[in-house]
Amino acid sequence: MVDALRRLEYRGYDSAGIATLEDGAITRRRAEGKLRNLESKLDREPLEGLIGIGHTRWATHGKPTEGNAHPHATSRVAVVHNGIIENFRELREELIAEGARFQSETDTEVVAHLVTRELDRGKTPIKAVHASLRRLRGAFSLGFLFSGEDNLLIGARLGSPLAVGYGEGEMFLGSDAIALAPFTNTIAYLDDGDSVALTRSSATIYDAAFKRVHRTIQKSQASATIVDKGNHRHFMAKEIHEQPEVVSHTLTSFIDVVGETIRLPEDLPFDWKDLNRLTISACGTASYASMIAKYWFERYARLPVEVDIASEFRYREAPLDKGGLSIFVSQSGETADTLAALRYCKEQGQHTLAVVNVPTSTIAREAEVMVRTLAGPEIGVASTKAFTCQLAALAGLAIGAGKARGTLSAAEERELVHALIEAPRLMAEALRLEHEIETFSRDLAKASDVLYLGRGTSYPLSLEGALKLKEISYIHAEGYAAGELKHGPIALIDETMPVVVIAPFDAIFEKTVSNMQEVAARGGRIILITDAKGAEAAAMATLKTIVLPEMPAVVTPIVYSVPIQLLAYHTAVIIGTDVDQPRNLAKSVTVE
Ligand code: AGP
Repeated sequence: MVDALRRLEYRGYDSAGIATLEDGAITRRRAEGKLRNLESKLDREPLEGLIGIGHTRWATHGKPTEGNAHPHATSRVAVVHNGIIENFRELREELIAEGARFQSETDTEVVAHLVTRELDRGKTPIKAVHASLRRLRGAFSLGFLFSGEDNLLIGARLGSPLAVGYGEGEMFLGSDAIALAPFTNTIAYLDDGDSVALTRSSATIYDAAFKRVHRTIQKSQASATIVDKGNHRHFMAKEIHEQPEVVSHTLTSFIDVVGETIRLPEDLPFDWKDLNRLTISACGTASYASMIAKYWFERYARLPVEVDIASEFRYREAPLDKGGLSIFVSQSGETADTLAALRYCKEQGQHTLAVVNVPTSTIAREAEVMVRTLAGPEIGVASTKAFTCQLAALAGLAIGAGKARGTLSAAEERELVHALIEAPRLMAEALRLEHEIETFSRDLAKASDVLYLGRGTSYPLSLEGALKLKEISYIHAEGYAAGELKHGPIALIDETMPVVVIAPFDAIFEKTVSNMQEVAARGGRIILITDAKGAEAAAMATLKTIVLPEMPAVVTPIVYSVPIQLLAYHTAVIIGTDVDQPRNLAKSVTVE
């Protein structure tokens, strides 16, 4: 079990634990800090038992202490959990009012008490889990062990992946194939909303309506190092679908979900209050994340921001405030231009902060401060989950800066953090529109040019949408500020040119509707990505609409990334390009 937990280390962890049944009773060993602390505890106090669950934790609710480490348990059930239970507070209050006694600050413990209550009401374990799942809101995967049931494990997932491993006379459950690789490579991936009851020799899988279903059993190539595609055709598809989970990990690495406040990295070498402005440098997709962050830093921290693509910044000899702060955003942490920009800023006496996905990378090591995105290994050359994790990290930094500079009240901070906590669930809902989005890709696949339009934070997102499409389908695409249409690009519009408009319903939505009418008047075909209010306000004959849930403005760039990624992905699949390794590209541009 510890070997399996070690294979999940790439997710990061700050505590770990295991539960087994000894003489039918749930017995736990948990430890704060690195996995080796749990190992030494197990050496000192070994656990018996032929059945068990284990977990490496990335603290979401409550500090990384032994008491908050998973598994969480009552006398009847132990549970391990990955993700966020958004409505844990109301459930916790309800359970405490009925006499439940909590031992931790975590959301996970709520699940243990919910299932226990259903067991006490006489339900079987699987029915008790199903009844409890109906009460949960959020993005999560769960594993359950029951006292007195030494031939039963139950798992469930909504937004975070979960796989069933088929062994010889034994069965396994794991967050992904890597964790199961030491035991088996015969895997079935559960679909969103599935639950499963495992005995030593069987797996009974239920869908979101709790009806029995079959899921494909396949051979996984996972090993300790190689990440595999799971049940997806391409790494890019898998990575798009991993976003609710990895964005949840990234968000909760600096959010105190109980207090709904931002926990910025401690002992920063600068004081946000002393800063007069920020510069942010990055390339490609990372530069679009930086452009979105500009809106957030200026809106929430009242900090003027200059965003430069690093290849320009490194030669621009920009005048910089002594002791100012420069931020660098990079998935690989090896991009030559971004690294050169970092080195320029250090020479100019800047404080430097890097938002990176690879903590051992050069940019991570050379920056004064590293903020990690917890996207896990991103194999597809077209960046998807790293982008949304960059947005999550940058949103946290901007809100934290606002709090530190006193430009955000505690109530405003709580409201923004609460919105961020909902992002993984909203992304999981956006993913459920995939089949509908795929039909729109058929239009794009026939086009030779596509225009993406957006305003506010949807403007950099239109640049990202255009980049996603062009780099994997080779169709020429351009992103534009919607307000710029009349200043030239409208000359391009005719019935052969699809226009993708990214526009959640907000105060400037009507302006975008006018742009859409200008496009429609010239025969342009529009795909509008919006919400219910937007769809109603923009009703037009030639319109195809992707309708996302309504959500606070701060999370729209993160959630609206999902449909633009899926549009590009399915267009490329229809055309038949090499989605994971498009021509002429490399995952990390380590040369100028
Ligand atoms: C994004 O889909 C591209 N693969 C590319 O633009 C990438 O974002 C850019 O090269 C920056 O890479 P980095 O984040 O590793 O620095």
